[in-house]
Amino acid sequence: MAAAANPTTGVATARTWISSHQNLFMSTATSLSTQSKTISLSYSFSQKLNSVILKSRPAVAIKTTSSSAIETSAKETSSLPGLLVDLRGKRAFIAGIADDNGYGWAIAKSLAAAGAEIIVGTWVPAMNFFESGLERGEFDESRVLPDGSLMEISKVYPMDAVFDGPEDVPEDMKTSKRYAGYSKWTVKELVESVKQDFGSIDILVHSLANGPEVVKPLLETSRFGYLAAISASSYSFISLLQNFLPIMNPGGATVSLSYIAAERIIPGYGGGMSSAKAALESDTRVLAFEAGRKHNIRVNTISAGPLRSRAAKAIGSIDMMIDYSSTNAPIQKELSAEEVGNAAAFLASPLASAITGTVLYVDNGLNAMAVSIDSPALENLHRPKEK
Ligand SMILES: NC(=O)c1ccc[n+]([C@@H]2O[C@H](COP(=O)([O-])OP(=O)(O)OC[C@H]3O[C@@H](n4cnc5c(N)ncnc54)[C@H](O)[C@@H]3O)[C@@H](O)[C@H]2O)c1
Repeated sequence: MAAAANPTTGVATARTWISSHQNLFMSTATSLSTQSKTISLSYSFSQKLNSVILKSRPAVAIKTTSSSAIETSAKETSSLPGLLVDLRGKRAFIAGIADDNGYGWAIAKSLAAAGAEIIVGTWVPAMNFFESGLERGEFDESRVLPDGSLMEISKVYPMDAVFDGPEDVPEDMKTSKRYAGYSKWTVKELVESVKQDFGSIDILVHSLANGPEVVKPLLETSRFGYLAAISASSYSFISLLQNFLPIMNPGGATVSLSYIAAERIIPGYGGGMSSAKAALESDTRVLAFEAGRKHNIRVNTISAGPLRSRAAKAIGSIDMMIDYSSTNAPIQKELSAEEVGNAAAFLASPLASAITGTVLYVDNGLNAMAVSIDSPALENLHRPKEK
């Protein structure tokens, strides 16, 4: 099983160019972005941000680049052939990061490497783990961007995407051990806080899912389990977009994460999670129309291949799914979270300005296969071999 890692924020369309110019280019883009971020932080809302940025956040390696160095870099950049995933000056809110193993983290890193400012929404019960891990520097190794600097997170907000407003939260939950100590974590309150702290966003990423009965076959799933899966994994996106849309800058983009189980049978992905992903994909199309017409916002989803994330490990079959994919997909390697992160950065960028309402497969091509080539029944089938 070959390792995947292709450390770029580039995209397939720019791949040939990136291979020769990637290091120079990305370090240029990121140092420019770091510079512009530093400037904006020391400007209009620096005071406000100082009070909201994570308490005792780990020191971030902000490079102080001289203006002549920037000019030189800019000249180098403008003379290079190829296309840049350029998100400088854009602000992204990524919902669904609680550690450095999942797709949300990888997407945040790719967006940051392309120059975007990063704000994160973390599920309340995971807040303490994630926030204290950040403060203790436990994720520092994973925060390293292609130019060697560390990804900055401007703020981490507690959130629970299952609740739209405070009126929906049961009393016993407000005082429960997992939620006590945190406030304003329903979707409406979260968006209001982001509005107060930052004013607007350009990119919304939905990288969260939850199905309490995911290990149960659909045939054995309860009404509660099914509706809970849909609520956490599909309606949560509608709710986030509904509330964020008024503070999204026109021309912005959203990206969510789907799975092939939305369209094909994946035994073991139960509890209504396949239905939730099907709803998410259908909603992507309808919301693309509505948000596009209303606010010039693009809405896309990535159907990602299997990744050994915390959520996926809880399902129990992730190692088998990864092995299956490596064996049967057209591209025979393990998928890296970074490849999904890079695709998300592309979708969020102006390079994808005409792409909306789309399901983009980032799965080594597994979705295109109609047979399992490791099936004993196909033992004698001719198949292309590596030369
Ligand atoms: N891992 C895979 O193989 C795979 C494949 C395709 C798609 N996906 C999708 O990618 C997305 C990210 O998942 P991941 O696999 O990277 O795992 P992950 O564990 O990194 O992310 C899931 C996140 O959802 C959060 N969450 C759960 N319930 C929540 C709620 N009510 N409110 C707010 N946050 C909540 C969790 O805290 C966690 O941070 C999901 O939509 C998942 O279905 C994953």
